[in-house]
Amino acid sequence: MDRLLSVLTRAYRVGDLEQSVLREGQRYFASYMFRLVKYTETKHEIQGVGGSLTASLEKELLTALRAKSNRHIPGEVSITPSLVLGAAGGTGDTNLYLAVSMNSGEPFALVERDRFALMLMSKYVSIFYDYLHLIEAKLNEMEQRHGSDEPWLSKLFMQITEKERKRLASDLHDEVLQELLNIRRSVERTSGENSMYESRKDICRGLDNVEFMIRETCQELMPPFISEHGVLHAVSKLVEKTRLRAEFQLEFKTLPITAPISDEQTITIYRIVQELINNGFKHSEARKLTLEVGQEDEWLHIRYKDDGVGMETSRDFSDSNRFGLKGIAERARMVGGSVTLESQPGQGLKVHCALPL
Ligand SMILES: Nc1ncnc2c1ncn2[C@@H]1O[C@H](COP(=O)(O)OP(=O)(O)OP(=O)(O)O)[C@@H](O)[C@H]1O
Ligand SMILES: [Mg+2]
Repeated sequence: MDRLLSVLTRAYRVGDLEQSVLREGQRYFASYMFRLVKYTETKHEIQGVGGSLTASLEKELLTALRAKSNRHIPGEVSITPSLVLGAAGGTGDTNLYLAVSMNSGEPFALVERDRFALMLMSKYVSIFYDYLHLIEAKLNEMEQRHGSDEPWLSKLFMQITEKERKRLASDLHDEVLQELLNIRRSVERTSGENSMYESRKDICRGLDNVEFMIRETCQELMPPFISEHGVLHAVSKLVEKTRLRAEFQLEFKTLPITAPISDEQTITIYRIVQELINNGFKHSEARKLTLEVGQEDEWLHIRYKDDGVGMETSRDFSDSNRFGLKGIAERARMVGGSVTLESQPGQGLKVHCALPL
């Protein structure tokens, strides 16, 4: 339950919360089949979170939910011969349920302790689920308003996505597009020539490059993909790429991470390191950058240090168009972490981020 509570408090979007609950439920009810389902009462429709439901489970669920005339109270557990259902809240028409059954669909019973766990889980989830729905609705409202009183938070969100889009556009333009232009030139050359074979080989090589670059760009934009191999792997790839184009020396140290890391945490860590390195390139004039990423106790630490020109840490960037450092602080804050900067002109820069695991 402690684990569940800690992942619930860290989810800041409904989608993240659903994924975390699914993962934690599957972990706890490992010897059963655990599913998270959304039920839309007016349409009498059921939908599985993270994958579709088998026809027999869907039927079983619909029968159990139809049998209930009034709305479930969050935390309420219903039992049918082959299903145990915990009501986990929802907004109006659509409600969330935690469903435990046997893989085979055969009748079974949950021991008292597990029934109690399902009840607690459902209750906890409902609190966070409803709360996140409210926040998301507010954020959508803020985004739509676009008024002059637009809060700084949504502005920052927009700037961050705007920056990502710009990066994608420039990657596509500078690399992928140039490569496509080369291919076109190659194809144009082939007309009326005998050396078809050589040109075809060129074209294929060009297309291989395009494929590689598109994959790279997509990985950059979607760090969750690379979290398959762990966040340290993702960061070390970034370090390798940096070393190829950097004039400074980049020392990279890791500490083993034993705690599970969510996609959200992976993105946070990856983007923070990325911005620190980008700033190292753009502003530091350093000869050496040192980066350390890893777990100590229950915290994930990112320690960055450079021996460059440094900066005045008291400078106020709140009204400026610079979003890198603000973004780092905001990303860390969103996962319950903190950031400290240490620098003086001429003395290099030290940044320490600590994120709870
Ligand atoms: N490693 C560094 N060495 C020296 N100065 C730095 C370093 N990192 C950041 N700064 C200073 O802090 C300022 C703010 O950094 P920040 O990342 O917020 O903005 P930016 O890099 O200028 O723009 P953006 O990140 O939005 O593209 C920079 O303009 C620079 O003056
Ligand atoms: Mg920056």
